[in-house]
Amino acid sequence: MLRITHDTPIPNTFRIPAKAATFVTYGREDIEELTTFLQGEGQGRRILNIGQGSNLLFLKDFDGIVLSSEVRDFSVSGNRLRVGAAWVVDELIERTLALGLYGLENLSLIPGTVGAAAVQNIGAYGVEIANFIREVEALELSTGTIRIFRPEELHYGYRRSFFKAPEEWGRWAVLSVTLELSRDFVPRLDYGGLRQRLGEGSVSARQVREAVIAIRREKLPDPEVLGNAGSFFVNPVVSPEKAEELRRQYPDMPTYEAENGVKIPAGWMIEQCGWKGRALGPAAVHDRQALVLVNRGGATGEDISRLSEAVRAAVKERFGVDVRPEVNFL
Ligand code: EPU
Repeated sequence: MLRITHDTPIPNTFRIPAKAATFVTYGREDIEELTTFLQGEGQGRRILNIGQGSNLLFLKDFDGIVLSSEVRDFSVSGNRLRVGAAWVVDELIERTLALGLYGLENLSLIPGTVGAAAVQNIGAYGVEIANFIREVEALELSTGTIRIFRPEELHYGYRRSFFKAPEEWGRWAVLSVTLELSRDFVPRLDYGGLRQRLGEGSVSARQVREAVIAIRREKLPDPEVLGNAGSFFVNPVVSPEKAEELRRQYPDMPTYEAENGVKIPAGWMIEQCGWKGRALGPAAVHDRQALVLVNRGGATGEDISRLSEAVRAAVKERFGVDVRPEVNFL
């Protein structure tokens, strides 16, 4: 049964109080009813799909309809896994390892649901969820049509997908994702100090998962304790010429090759600007990872947004690079 409530607090890992005028929870069996509702009472209203709210910053209450999935399908066929959008990514990873299906371990402890992961193309330690996605099943909310997308239609890139294009925003709800994993475990240890932590010699998928969890716990604040949305900014990709110019000025600057240029870690630039650990009222730049903004308690969306603007201006002035938020402002 569709569950509809009004004036409902919206879950978000920034722990910012915000209410939805209408909050709707639906499962697989409610899709017809959901479509009828959206075409009737929901006609013309703004729609926001949320997972765990781990990538959202609320500047005010949401006057439209918030949709929250409870689609929890789970089926395995060979190396393929079809999983409902409501699954929490980290719980899914735990389950895949128990089934002897490998590939996702580097994404351990990333907050969020499978549905959000497929929209956002979550990534960490050299792995992106798009590497494994073979199909995404999505509901077109205005018509009730279910469509199966192939990876080539989804235009995945670094934290990018078809679903994030402005004209698609609010148009689709991901129902399930089909992933192709591997029965043979191949460790990927080239990023973020994983190899140093695990040492030489053979490692198991579970050891990789545990190492990733330990590194994340060291650097990233626990949203249960300190509200945050993980990386607040996307790492900017600059032209090779711009990267060369910066390298001459800052020989110690870390860089990564990217699809269409050179990726520069925003956290490094923010730290260089002296913002790491600094606060602006109840909002602060995390003291162990400058890419993360935190709610020190009682912050509003505006407080976080003000800090974000100050940090962006500092980076722009010092490096001539624009860092853009990864988090969605609402
Ligand atoms: N760095 C600093 N100071 C900082 C933070 C980073 O100098 O305060 C330097 C590090 O020393 C390193 C480089 O910047 O040389 C990259 O840092 P890190 O490995 O911590 O990764 P990141 O680029 O800051 C990205 C993802 C994270 C993911 C890590 C690990 C984005 C937007 N973020 O961060 O994803 O966990 O790589 O792979 O790409 C998230 O999206 O919420 C998230 C945490």
